[in-house]
Amino acid sequence: MRFRRLAHQLSQVGAQQVVVDLARRGSHDEHRHAQLCAAMCARYGGEVPKGPFHDHPAMWPGLAPRDQVLYEVVAFACIAETINAQLLTTILNRATDPRILRIVRRLLKDEVVHGKFGWAHLAAERQRGGGAFLSSLIPKMLARSVEDELFSSGPDPVDAEAIAHGEVPRTERLEIFVSGLREVIFPGFEMFGLDMAPAKEWLTKRLAGEG
Ligand SMILES: [Fe+2]
Repeated sequence: MRFRRLAHQLSQVGAQQVVVDLARRGSHDEHRHAQLCAAMCARYGGEVPKGPFHDHPAMWPGLAPRDQVLYEVVAFACIAETINAQLLTTILNRATDPRILRIVRRLLKDEVVHGKFGWAHLAAERQRGGGAFLSSLIPKMLARSVEDELFSSGPDPVDAEAIAHGEVPRTERLEIFVSGLREVIFPGFEMFGLDMAPAKEWLTKRLAGEG
């Protein structure tokens, strides 16, 4: 739903056609992913959510329409999809169940493209002089993108059996999040001339339990 809406919004604000096309492709990919994940959920005896499902646009108050779209693309594609791709890569290296590996491989192939969609749009917007507002908003996006659970030190009952089926212990998920930011996402944003000092400060404080 998000990708389909973004494709429409992106074409309305005059984004590059290649970016609009990638968003359309993303909506088809995610539809297929949902079906694959629902089938997997059922196979493990879980209850498959039936909907109705709702689209929740990620907004930041006061932004002009073109910046609003860029805000959401950066939050969901540059950040979330990039971290997802790293998480799926870890699962691919650790899981052993062949059905999980087959599905994760298919998801990963698409998630990499979804991340590229975000970076392509950011590149185009920066080239035309937009997006400077992101430097101060990225810490807010990051704060919204993670659950407190990721930083908690409570029990984490992920055993070897769960890992074989694709789960990742919390400590490792946190490492993926932190290294994804420090090694991929922050340098990526810096390459596009954004100031990552506020985001780095947010991360340091969050890791120290002050976020
Ligand atoms: Fe995706």
